[in-house]
Amino acid sequence: MGMFQRDRRVFADAEPLDDSYEPEDIRERDEELEKYQRALQPIIDNRPTSNIFLYGKTGTGKTVATKFMLSHLEDDAAQYDDIDLSTVWVSCENLSSSYQVAVALVNELRESRGGDRISTTGYSQQRVFDILYEELDVLGGTVVIVLDEIDNIGHSDDILYGLPRARSNGYVEDIRPVIVGISNDFQFRDNLSPKVKDTLAEKEILFPPYDANQLRSILEPRAEKAFHDGVLDDDVVPLCSAFAAQDTGSARQAIRLLREAGELAQADGSETITEVHVRNAQDELEKNQLYEGMQELTTQGHAVLCALAYREALDEVPVRSRDLYKRYTRICGRLDTDSVSERRVRDHLSDMNMLGLIRVYERNEGLSAGRYHEYELDVPLRAVLDVLLSTSRFEDFAGIIHSAADDNGLLRSDISDY
Ligand SMILES: Nc1ncnc2c1ncn2[C@@H]1O[C@H](COP(=O)(O)OP(=O)(O)OP(=O)(O)O)[C@@H](O)[C@H]1O
Ligand SMILES: [Mg+2]
Repeated sequence: MGMFQRDRRVFADAEPLDDSYEPEDIRERDEELEKYQRALQPIIDNRPTSNIFLYGKTGTGKTVATKFMLSHLEDDAAQYDDIDLSTVWVSCENLSSSYQVAVALVNELRESRGGDRISTTGYSQQRVFDILYEELDVLGGTVVIVLDEIDNIGHSDDILYGLPRARSNGYVEDIRPVIVGISNDFQFRDNLSPKVKDTLAEKEILFPPYDANQLRSILEPRAEKAFHDGVLDDDVVPLCSAFAAQDTGSARQAIRLLREAGELAQADGSETITEVHVRNAQDELEKNQLYEGMQELTTQGHAVLCALAYREALDEVPVRSRDLYKRYTRICGRLDTDSVSERRVRDHLSDMNMLGLIRVYERNEGLSAGRYHEYELDVPLRAVLDVLLSTSRFEDFAGIIHSAADDNGLLRSDISDY
């Protein structure tokens, strides 16, 4: 008997739990879709159309909603002889400048009409922009240009300035570009220069995080398709939704959790997926996320995290950086490692905040105490302890923190009722 055998007891069709799956309908986004539709309507009416900027945290449905709207737009536009519509989609995930985005756009446009790709290096930026304008002019009509995950270009945002103005500046004649920019980075949006903001974000649509009920409604049709009848306990979808809503409000996270729970049930040889599988799946995913984040940390970073975990175990959070710093220097002392300045510790804390490991609060106590920051873990203490335990030199601390937390009754499960 081989190591692997096909097992179809739990999953009927895992496709609906895949990241690339396109659902039949978009749920719980009526308001946003209505706004979106209104923003795109002028294309059908052959009127000038504003650019659109979608923003909201990861997993809130920006990409899937855009695919959905564009496919309707294309279908419906086809019924009018006087509308000449095309769409180009570029995911900027691995593109870090306007130059790269312009090259990607050119190649996307060329590929769609069987032309040759251009090289990703070797041109001046202006030359690439010129080629892009030529390609667009060849296409003609209204061209909806989707720039997904556009925040990756950072400050190199020339394309967001040039493209919307291509027509008014006379670089293109026969096309009307409509740009749909999508970003999950609020800072990117706030930092757009006013001149870019003016044109790109003429119409803004915010995608807020989902609450537990909305996630349930998104998960249900997928769960229905993904699992055999009778496999899923009634509380599984609600619990996945509750966990994801409490953490990020991301549909992606909720879907992953459900899939992971199914996989754990399958691995158990269990005939049903239960609440326990969800809780284990949640632990598993949290640990993965944490491990990933932790791997980026240096010993100094680990020491800072360890200090914070200790305060957490004593139930003394949020903690001010100067108090945290004292604990940190003591930990360094016991590790026989040099400690760094309080300022550097704050840098480490800010990195950890970016990784989603900790939460930072900015306090302003007026003139007397001034402004300062307070910190607490943004992941379960239990998960930090697991990781510290498996990080060399930190095993002993993990033990100490564990018993402190136990004394304070802090290691119970994180969601006991939902
Ligand atoms: N309202 C919804 N109805 C059905 N499925 C949804 C909905 N919102 C999100 N999803 C699903 O959740 C997953 C994440 O959604 P999507 O990729 O659109 O998020 P996003 O906002 O683009 O996130 P990111 O900023 O990380 O790119 C996808 O699998 C998508 O199909
Ligand atoms: Mg997306």
